Amino acid sequence: MTTAERQALIAAARAAVGTAYAPYSEFHVGAALLFDDGEIVTGANVENASYGLALCAETVACALASHAGRRGGLIAVAVLGGKHGVVGPVVTPCGRCRQVLNELSQLGRTDPLVLCVGADETVEIRLSALLPRAFGPANLA
Ligand code: THU
Repeated sequence: MTTAERQALIAAARAAVGTAYAPYSEFHVGAALLFDDGEIVTGANVENASYGLALCAETVACALASHAGRRGGLIAVAVLGGKHGVVGPVVTPCGRCRQVLNELSQLGRTDPLVLCVGADETVEIRLSALLPRAFGPANLA
């Protein structure tokens, strides 16, 4: 990933925060996925009056990418957010999102770099480090 791609990915995640539907937690999150053809797919969290049904930003982005026909090629992810959309401490993907991201990454045999962006620091970590020994499509082959 080039410096320009990295900046564009973080900017896309930041822009996606604005489309979050999070009236219950008021915690607005944006996620952006960078693919090996340079395209970026974004998502934001979608909450529900039945609180437990909330969809995280990363999961929404993966679903949109899948619906657009993506079946791999995921090279990097950016995620950020905070209360009322103000970026605060680093946001790392929740457990379910790690598994959802793993599906897309394993399909294309990539190990995306996950940029967890906070106001004061950015944590860069491979998905395989966030979800070691992941269960994925290969297990069902
Ligand atoms: N959330 C995300 O969208 N991504 C994360 O990585 C962490 C949490 C959302 C889910 C919920 O709508 C809100 O943040 C508070 O947990």
